[in-house]
Amino acid sequence: MANHPISSRISHRLQQLQTDGLLRQRKLAELDKASANNLARTIPNIIDFSHNDYLGLANDPEMIAAIHAGAIKYGVGSKASPLVSGYSEAHLKLEQGLCELTGHEGGLLFCSGFSANQALIKTLFEAGDVIIADKLIHASVIDGVKDSGAALKRYKHNDITHAEQLLNRFPNSALFTESVFSMDGDRAPLDALSNLCKQHNSWLVVDDAHGFGINYEELASNRFNVSRAAVTPQCDIQVITFGKALGCQGACVLASQQIIDYMVAQSRHYIYSTALSPASAHLALTAVNLTQSQPDKASTLFANIAFFRSLCNAKNIALTESITAIQPVIIGDSERTLAIAKALKQQGLQVGAIRPPTVPKGQARLRVTINASHNAEQITQLVDALAVQLPREY
Ligand SMILES: Cc1ncc(COP(=O)(O)O)c(C=O)c1O
Repeated sequence: MANHPISSRISHRLQQLQTDGLLRQRKLAELDKASANNLARTIPNIIDFSHNDYLGLANDPEMIAAIHAGAIKYGVGSKASPLVSGYSEAHLKLEQGLCELTGHEGGLLFCSGFSANQALIKTLFEAGDVIIADKLIHASVIDGVKDSGAALKRYKHNDITHAEQLLNRFPNSALFTESVFSMDGDRAPLDALSNLCKQHNSWLVVDDAHGFGINYEELASNRFNVSRAAVTPQCDIQVITFGKALGCQGACVLASQQIIDYMVAQSRHYIYSTALSPASAHLALTAVNLTQSQPDKASTLFANIAFFRSLCNAKNIALTESITAIQPVIIGDSERTLAIAKALKQQGLQVGAIRPPTVPKGQARLRVTINASHNAEQITQLVDALAVQLPREY
């Protein structure tokens, strides 16, 4: 094995990543104080500001009861691919619930958002098609485009003028954006993009991974309204993932019935893979319903975000314009970012240390995420620690 040329190449590349400070490694997740408090558990030892469970649903007692109930009713595994016998009432109900909420005609479930994006693009597009995408679009979209053979044209991040130039050159195409950008937390100008796409006979496809479940528009204007707790972007296709604000796992492509029918018939990711666990489907539907019935979770999140931003402001910690749960603190240098994250960890505070190529070169950052389970004391502890750790010139 050691003499195998591919082993040598891998070894060389691992070494290089290590040298460049870009080697990614797993760490065992520790019990999160904020979530643990929810359940009145003991042994909390970390306050987690790194995950995407924005509404605190992953540890919510109703969610835990729901996965149990789902497992008892439907079983823990789907046991087969959807077209064989893995598609159950639990899946149908979730698809229907999501369609009702978003207004799309049909939905198709996947085990992850990454596979949903890849399946969508690989199935619908082919050589000769053009996909226009925001410069910061997620890796799964880029990989999907590569698989499909379509041409990829990128516009500068959230730059409507540049997007319009590309649409002028490539009408009848599909434009992809995220609703809330995963590493920056800023939001796409969906209304403007939707109008542009209509004018150029192009589809608007929204990766709503970080937006679904929280209506920032209404929260920001204090018009929070139960019936609109889930954002329904103006778009032809919407991809939502269950692993962020819904606190569980899986994803759904929402689109016209024609597109869904075609994907059922043609999507290799869908046809040749074991269906999402029915217990997970039941759980995700419970989460969707909780976003509707408990709007206080989103309001608490929003108040926590505002509190974090006001404390940072008072301590001269520069933030971006993001009003969402994703609050990046841009450091620049990768090593420095890692060192700060490590120092915070030693104080019991977990933040994401995000480096290129996930973010552009020179823009390594602490990806701080705020959630509804954090309390004022925990947020204050983080900001105090950040103020000590950040470079003096910051
Ligand atoms: C914007 C975006 N799209 C898609 C995905 C993939 O979703 P999942 O984690 O369910 O695979 C992610 C996950 O990080 C994401 O941030």
